[in-house]
Amino acid sequence: MNVLLTATQLHEGVRRLAGEINAFYGQQPLVIVGVMTGSLVLVADLIRQLEMPLRVGVVQARSYRGNATVPGELTVHAELLPELAGRHVLVVDDIFDTGQTLAALLEQFDRLGPASVRSAVLLRKLGRQRVAIAPDHVGFEIPDAFVVGYGLDYRDEYRNLPFVAILDPATLDEESPR
Ligand code: IMP
Ligand code: MG
Repeated sequence: MNVLLTATQLHEGVRRLAGEINAFYGQQPLVIVGVMTGSLVLVADLIRQLEMPLRVGVVQARSYRGNATVPGELTVHAELLPELAGRHVLVVDDIFDTGQTLAALLEQFDRLGPASVRSAVLLRKLGRQRVAIAPDHVGFEIPDAFVVGYGLDYRDEYRNLPFVAILDPATLDEESPR
């Protein structure tokens, strides 16, 4: 496992993100919607540095079926979503890869009549984008490799690592059942 971003770098990146978000919204009330489970750690660190009146909700979006690293159909569970109508909404995800998850979520949330919908991600993978939109706030741009840690998983493991690491491709197995 190769460390790509250390805990210190992540801390600085999240502080930068929070600074951008604080500057953009000022004291306007904001609803953070964390995309579970990958954004869990980012949301926890980020919200403690946000200064506006804040509500926090989560939504679950899964594009990876089982153990694969190849995106499948997107499933969205919105039961834990707070009221979004008339509110400023910031969707927070761990990584912008093809962008399909975020694009689909933004479109769904838009239909709920919010005052605005924007997005923030910890990581943006370069050279993978397949949608027309881009995240409004990006912590770090990273090369096209499969990364884990700080919330990001492989087969639901490694989320607890305090750093972001590139998983050795030999470890990745897209076909075999778990
Ligand atoms: P997208 O829809 O292709 O942008 O994929 C976004 C989702 O795929 C993220 O929320 C992650 O859960 C997952 N994902 C994409 N790349 C990685 C990676 O390198 N490591 C772990 N999860 C990833
Ligand atoms: Mg995710």
